[in-house]
Amino acid sequence: MEIISDISVLRTRLKPEQSIGFVPTMGNLHEGHLSLVTITQQHARCTVVSLFVNRLQFSPHEDFDRYPRTLQNDFALLKEAGVDIVFLPDEKTIYPAPQTFQLLLPALADTLEGAFRPGFFRGVTTVVLKLFNIVQPHIAVFGKKDYQQLHLVRDMVEQLNLPITILAGETIRLENGLAFSSRNSYLTSVERSEASQLYQSLNQIKHAITAGERNLTLLEETAKQQLNQRNWKVDYLSAMQRNTLLPATSQDTELVILGAAWLGTTRLIDNLEVTLPQPLG
Ligand code: PAF
Repeated sequence: MEIISDISVLRTRLKPEQSIGFVPTMGNLHEGHLSLVTITQQHARCTVVSLFVNRLQFSPHEDFDRYPRTLQNDFALLKEAGVDIVFLPDEKTIYPAPQTFQLLLPALADTLEGAFRPGFFRGVTTVVLKLFNIVQPHIAVFGKKDYQQLHLVRDMVEQLNLPITILAGETIRLENGLAFSSRNSYLTSVERSEASQLYQSLNQIKHAITAGERNLTLLEETAKQQLNQRNWKVDYLSAMQRNTLLPATSQDTELVILGAAWLGTTRLIDNLEVTLPQPLG
């Protein structure tokens, strides 16, 4: 496994490669990331994983400074997974000058996560576009855990005509349902078992919809209240159309329930897809 920090060295190394698969990450790797690596390896001959904690997608009061950085462990996991190249740029490499050119995003970027983390998706898409330009992959894999991010990256690639196929990886969960996330490392052991309640709430809404309940607002509000009673602070719990991430309508059969909530000082996000045999009605 090669570790490359310099853009021109990376480009020279990748020039002869016919089939490049890419997984962008912020490091602190876990099984979720490794599952994306596996998908990449099934579709491309040369696998590149980037490790870069992108300051641009954090607001000043957010956890950029304390975001877990576990480089040696990340290298060991990637080597064991058979990754060919780790791209490990420093901040000056990605942002040699203030990043005054940034993308103008669609309204979707201001909803759900974007409503609670202003500027987040501008930071994400800007760095993803830069990384795509640097690595020039044929395919890139993103996890469904960050559902709205996956959606926006797909739209960006399509609307900007980037010659990259975006593939999606399923969310990988612990036995209790808690989705793997780098931010799980902030949780105390008591919080860690409580944390699966976010998934339980999404499941509760999913089962109620599948069983025929059609008052989505009531379902969302009930689940929110239940979490709040357990000392969570819910940012949102919303059933949306899967293809647009707009509120679900009576014609929809393909939904996704998205949630974000604080447990103590840790903010967790998760989602669950729901496919109905008939439109919601
Ligand atoms: O999902 C992430 O880890 C980040 O948002 C990404 C895509 C690596 C961009 O910094």
